[in-house]
Amino acid sequence: MDGPRSARASEVMEAADLANRVFRLAAHLGPTMHLEFPRLFCKEHPEQLWIVREGERVVSLVGAFRRDLYLQGCKTSTAALGAVCTDPAYRSQGLAGLILRSLALHLTQQGVRVLIISGDRPLYRRMGGVRSGLVHWVTVPASPTPTLAAAEDRWWVEEVRPEQTERLAEVLRLYEQEPVRFERSLEDLRGFVGALPHGFDGTRYRRLWLARQGRSGPARAYLTTDGPSWPAASPAVDEPIYWQAREWGGDRAAVWRLAAELAGGHGVNGIRFPVSSIDRDLLNQARRHGFTVAATDSTAWASWGGTFVGLNPQGLLGDLQPLLGEELAGHLLTAVTAGRITPPVLLAILFGQEAGWWTGSRAAWLAQLRELLGMREEERGRVETLASPLPLPWMWGNTLNYV
Ligand SMILES: CC(C)(COP(=O)(O)OP(=O)(O)OC[C@H]1O[C@@H](n2cnc3c(N)ncnc32)[C@H](O)[C@@H]1OP(=O)(O)O)[C@@H](O)C(=O)NCCC(=O)NCCS
Repeated sequence: MDGPRSARASEVMEAADLANRVFRLAAHLGPTMHLEFPRLFCKEHPEQLWIVREGERVVSLVGAFRRDLYLQGCKTSTAALGAVCTDPAYRSQGLAGLILRSLALHLTQQGVRVLIISGDRPLYRRMGGVRSGLVHWVTVPASPTPTLAAAEDRWWVEEVRPEQTERLAEVLRLYEQEPVRFERSLEDLRGFVGALPHGFDGTRYRRLWLARQGRSGPARAYLTTDGPSWPAASPAVDEPIYWQAREWGGDRAAVWRLAAELAGGHGVNGIRFPVSSIDRDLLNQARRHGFTVAATDSTAWASWGGTFVGLNPQGLLGDLQPLLGEELAGHLLTAVTAGRITPPVLLAILFGQEAGWWTGSRAAWLAQLRELLGMREEERGRVETLASPLPLPWMWGNTLNYV
């Protein structure tokens, strides 16, 4: 047995073969993992793939895509983990667990604070995995009629393709103004956009759209959608058809308008957005427009079956101190060091979690927080003031950066 270790350039396609055998097993699925995730299965960066090999074959694999994350100007380091797989003949021998532990140690030494893992399994829970980051589902209905506005006010919605460098640069500029975003290069974006049409089950229609006001006006918003393809969205299908927004950027009113026009133009009933509870601007606008806004519930959580693992709580608190304030960061650090707050609980406190914290009564979780911080009953007013920045915004797992 050789590994766990990072792959060599010559092993990237072998790793992709294993991922294809495991994840694209059904006959109607092509072996497309390396096309869907070209920035992960990439010969220039074989160190992103951690493997165990036995003789001629890669038998277990974990992919890790490292990028910094910017939360309202604060930078922290994350790695998106995915393509976790073991050859069926080698399962339940602890190989995936072994790779994950070695990789987590390596990434911690490299300064990574949080893992964003695709999937929610005992394997990840045993590493301290937790679901964090509250979302509301907003449904933007299709605009009923094509736009009748005057030409200069008309919106031009165009699909962006990977070879269109100028348009990619416009999208990147919008993305760079987002308050919560990953570090992203033009080449990253080109890779993500090129991967979009390789939808894994043949029924998806994944595209990136850019809207500008007037034919040559400034870019106002972009949106990536994912959903049933055109032929599937035919009148023969009784069920209403919705696309899901994977990522968007730009002025919020413009994002809604782009979504409504796009849905109207493509014969789908609407577009569903997983909107962070922190994005109050977008949520308020959605309510003003009369869109359906569904609060976070178990169904919403099921839509991105991901988990987050805190690798270095002290480092994370240091990175986020400007957002938390010195005093709250200090109290949290003391509680973490004393072992009163474990890494998964810290993520739940900082970024929200489905049960018991942010979705329950604020008074109840403030009492819980006070106890965890080791503060007295009389100090509850102080805890309330200290906790006012919480929960912080966090990255929804289902973005273009996702491996
Ligand atoms: C999931 C998968 C990668 C696991 O690979 P593996 O090499 O068999 O993993 P391990 O032997 O380390 O662990 C197997 C299971 O035993 C559990 N386990 C291992 N050691 C354990 C211990 N000491 N005590 C309790 N449970 C233990 C693990 O938590 C894991 O549970 P899970 O599979 O329900 O998450 C493999 O089954 C696979 O390729 N599945 C198909 C692809 C897939 O679903 N990938 C994950 C996407 S989220």
